Amino acid sequence: MRLPPLHFASPLRPRAPHITFQFRRMASAQASVFGLKDFSLIKTQAFIDGKWVDAKSGQTITVINPATQEELGTVPEMGLAETKEAIDAAAKALPAWSKTTAKHRHDILMKMFALMQEHHDDLGRLITLENGKTLAEGKGENAYSASFLEWFAEEAVRTYGEHIPSPFPNVRNVTIKQPIGVVSIMTPWNFPSAMITRKLGAALAAGCTAVVKPPPETPFSCLALVELARRAGVPDGVINVVTTFKNVSEVGKEMCESKIVKKVSFTGSTPVAKLLAGMAASTLKKVSLEAGGNAPFIVFDDADIDEAVAAAIICKFRSTGQTCVCANRIYVQSSVYAEFASRLAEKVATFKVGNGLDESTTHGPLIHERALEKVQAHVDDAVALGAQVLVGGTAIPGTSFFHPTVLCDVPAGARVNSEETFGPLAALIKFETEDEVIKLANSTDVGLAGYFFSRDVGRVWRVAEKLEVGMVGCNTGLISQAVIGFGGIKESGLGREGGHGIEEYMNTKLIVFGGLN
Ligand code: SIN
Repeated sequence: MRLPPLHFASPLRPRAPHITFQFRRMASAQASVFGLKDFSLIKTQAFIDGKWVDAKSGQTITVINPATQEELGTVPEMGLAETKEAIDAAAKALPAWSKTTAKHRHDILMKMFALMQEHHDDLGRLITLENGKTLAEGKGENAYSASFLEWFAEEAVRTYGEHIPSPFPNVRNVTIKQPIGVVSIMTPWNFPSAMITRKLGAALAAGCTAVVKPPPETPFSCLALVELARRAGVPDGVINVVTTFKNVSEVGKEMCESKIVKKVSFTGSTPVAKLLAGMAASTLKKVSLEAGGNAPFIVFDDADIDEAVAAAIICKFRSTGQTCVCANRIYVQSSVYAEFASRLAEKVATFKVGNGLDESTTHGPLIHERALEKVQAHVDDAVALGAQVLVGGTAIPGTSFFHPTVLCDVPAGARVNSEETFGPLAALIKFETEDEVIKLANSTDVGLAGYFFSRDVGRVWRVAEKLEVGMVGCNTGLISQAVIGFGGIKESGLGREGGHGIEEYMNTKLIVFGGLN
């Protein structure tokens, strides 16, 4: 007999999971539930010092498929003791790994990249099963995720230092790049795989060792990646994974405050990013924080409306609106407002929500009940203030699905203007002038991504420069690629991932050579 599940609120995770915590681990995950070709990719234990391990307490977390509410399996509910062990294992592995050549690390990362391609169907399916996104999106994420390994493999061999000419005779100044050390990596459920490789790929390429805390909603993708890393030849202790839900506060604290850890990398909400930054400050650790967004998406009257509608659909409804760079506020200039609104609503009305494994599904579920409640609250609030529902507006009762929604005439005071919805709600706001919309777009504490559509080259430069965000999409709704420096300004975080992001995992050391006559 299984004990009834208990539900815990997590102070560290506002995007808290729809997950149950049990006092007894399920015997194993059922192969039939996953339907993978290579079932050995499913790991139901955490990974410390090269060994698959259970929690000392024997407690587990149950992982749910958000599309069906079916249990997928369990992973260990770990705590402080296991976190310390993981950090110690990473520290023990560091001297040897950091001394490997960049070419060696390149080769291992490329092997892992090849394995991710070889298991593309399984890994894509796994993402769909635990996150809910459609199979096309799951496979798309796997390709995106693998691309970080390829990119950082190529970056590993180009971590050049420099020679700085000295004003003094017989002196030479050079800099070298060295791995920062043991890193803590904490990732969210909305990209169960890609947010791990974006950090871990850079860390491994730089010569760092890592402790990874995957999200409790979607740990299986992370554990499958670790299995592939092991098969690719990553040595014991170089990657360690601690799974947790109930004990997330003590695990997160240790991952940030431990003196052994030299860097913290986190993707998630702004409140949690601030909390972790505060903890990491106790030892002045380097931090990379990719926090919340509230992206403006602006359509000017000189835009190509067809392209703007198509981009708004990708930008707003990708992963059912659950990405940090999704459009949150869609500003449309008054003369094209009605046309844009009706074309967008017409397209959104054709969406089919459902299980991501079903080929006809265009949009999957939200991750858990709290996510549904937030979308509904944003819709209800806007409608109460005078917004009109063009499509959708409600959840499908008893499920994790929310009808993709378009609201028009959303007033300035509506919550959706100041809070990230993280769901399938397109909120349309009318504007008259460029100055007005720039002011509106910038009137938020966060600044991750922003998008706009215009064919006027002068306006393109003006608006791109004025938007207070880390990343601008001009005449596109999709900016994510491994080659770019992904990250925000204001309260959207610190640091950049992808692109030159390997730098975030390295120290630059200056060496001054004197007496060279
Ligand atoms: C995120 O939502 O945090 C990442 C989105 C992306 O990489 O496109």
